[in-house]
Amino acid sequence: MLPGPLLSLPALLGLAAGASIPSNDGFPNPNAQQKLAIAQQAGGLLPNGPPPPSLGASSITAFQLIASNELFETAYFSSLLQNITAGAPGYQAQNKDELTKIFATVLAQEEQHALAAVATLQSVKAFAPSACQYQFPVSNLQDAVNLAETFTAIVLGALQGANVIFAQDGNAGPIQTVSSVIGQEGEQNGYYRVFLNKVPSESPFLTTVPAPFAWSALQMFIVPGSCPFPLSNINLPIFPPLMTNGGPVAAIEPQDQTLSFAADLSGSPAAQPFVNGNGSNLFLTYTTGQQLPISVPITNVKWSGSHISFQAQFPYSENVMQGFSHAALTTSNKFESANAVVNSALAGPAVIQVNNPL
Ligand SMILES: *[C@@H]1O[C@H](CO)[C@@H](O)[C@H](O)[C@H]1NC(C)=O
Ligand SMILES: *[C@@H]1O[C@H](CO)[C@@H](O)[C@H](O)[C@H]1NC(C)=O
Repeated sequence: MLPGPLLSLPALLGLAAGASIPSNDGFPNPNAQQKLAIAQQAGGLLPNGPPPPSLGASSITAFQLIASNELFETAYFSSLLQNITAGAPGYQAQNKDELTKIFATVLAQEEQHALAAVATLQSVKAFAPSACQYQFPVSNLQDAVNLAETFTAIVLGALQGANVIFAQDGNAGPIQTVSSVIGQEGEQNGYYRVFLNKVPSESPFLTTVPAPFAWSALQMFIVPGSCPFPLSNINLPIFPPLMTNGGPVAAIEPQDQTLSFAADLSGSPAAQPFVNGNGSNLFLTYTTGQQLPISVPITNVKWSGSHISFQAQFPYSENVMQGFSHAALTTSNKFESANAVVNSALAGPAVIQVNNPL
């Protein structure tokens, strides 16, 4: 039988089906009535000040990253909400009604964030990303909230940098709006941390995340090839992922320790001169809080083709690295800012969470 029109393009192409953004409330193109319903669920209306008359190229990239993150988050929280309301295996909870109300509200708030970012891009006639298909490496409530806490920490780090870019481009308006979102995402993470039995406020100065690392981390959740636009429309590099202790997110104890890392560098032309080397000219560079980057040597370097594995010290006590830190495999060990790490990175970000249980 010939494939009929009901088969979607990804199915025809044999792509794995992923999770989609919500669409039962008109999102991402709600009419006026649907907009009001989303706002009521979210607890507030979209910003209605005049849009910026124009935006610099870096500010546009920053908004494209924000819109991409928020679209992913709507798919994530929509899936989570469905799992909770359906009482799916792994998602049964005694406080189901409470969780349903909380995540229905978060979902609507993320929809508002996405709508605002897309509208800003459209108002200056810039490319506005639309939704991809997404994949979530979690299958129970605890892991799902844990992952939400981690990607929200990454977003909280990236929004800091977006504000710096808006300031450098002379766009004061978005700084206020994005700052209002930083507080909002912080409220979410405080709740997730309480849910996870952690101290709600993670650390005094949240870890900054350069935009290319946030964009690279987001790829972990995007079904490859599923975006309806070339990823190169967004002017940010994508680094090979850097696994820590065998996975994309390492949850570790608050102490000095040796961590294991691995990356497939075959797609990175910059890495080729280092393949099969002894690693003496490579470093693992951590970013934590508002500290300057911390580089340590890499040891036990092993190559299998262009696939590298190595170990590195996690200098917890000297640097008090509570909560979320990230790291990159770098060709330098001297950096004057967290952003500078991007220029010497071969892989990253490694995503590391230090637990501070109650
Ligand atoms: C919802 O459940 C499905 C099936 O177990 C799972 O694949 C998906 O990752 C879950 N979504 C979230 C956000 O936890
Ligand atoms: C690693 O290789 C570099 C350059 O090839 C060399 O100078 C250095 O001595 C080597 N280090 C070790 C520990 O083998």
